[in-house]
Amino acid sequence: MLIAGNWKMHKGPAEAGAFCRALREADLGTVDVVVCPPDVSLGAAVQALAGTEIGVAAQNVHWAAEGPFTGEVSAPMLRELGVYGTIVGHSERRQHFGETDETVALRLAAALEHGLQVIACVGETEAEREAGETQAVLARQVGAIAAAIGDTDGLVLAYEPVWAIGTGRTATPAIAQEAHAFVKTILDVPVLYGGSVKPENAGELAAEQDVDGALVGGASLDLSSFAAICRAASPSSRS
Ligand code: PGA
Repeated sequence: MLIAGNWKMHKGPAEAGAFCRALREADLGTVDVVVCPPDVSLGAAVQALAGTEIGVAAQNVHWAAEGPFTGEVSAPMLRELGVYGTIVGHSERRQHFGETDETVALRLAAALEHGLQVIACVGETEAEREAGETQAVLARQVGAIAAAIGDTDGLVLAYEPVWAIGTGRTATPAIAQEAHAFVKTILDVPVLYGGSVKPENAGELAAEQDVDGALVGGASLDLSSFAAICRAASPSSRS
């Protein structure tokens, strides 16, 4: 069970360091924990969490090792900083920054090649769900990911229905389970659920057979709610 906190564009270095020092002392149950700060705060997070089992991952990565790509960072740069992994293909990148299945595949392949763990995000929009296209969208997105990789070592997927992100409208455990099971027929890797995960729903989502953790946005910014999610999703607290 993996709980990853996607901070999005929140917490500069000072706040990230303070949060991570407090995270070291928090009761996080028995799950694996990762935080994903913005790039400028990765170093502070790595430093504050040194010597712990808590991982630090980026929110995106470029496919080239270096080059004329203004505003991007590369996998070797992240590795040099002590970062252990990265998110790729988040729907906010796809929606607002022109990320496509092709660029997601390039980023993901480069990240894995350079030894980063990857959380690759997929998920349908509300219009796609209403049009009955959920499985077709997931098949296309996951298919592009599957085609880009040699083996699945280091890869985790996150099913994040776009209509559930930041909206307070969480997918029901049944919807999540159905989507996760479908995704695993294409690519057999752990699948996190993301979209309005909170302390109140983390336990029931984590109890579904094919839910292997959560990618948490808004509720990961507050230490007590993030720790409560980690505890609620811990296998021991659900038995
Ligand atoms: P949310 O975001 O938990 O705020 O809905 C999840 C995500 O975008 O990863």
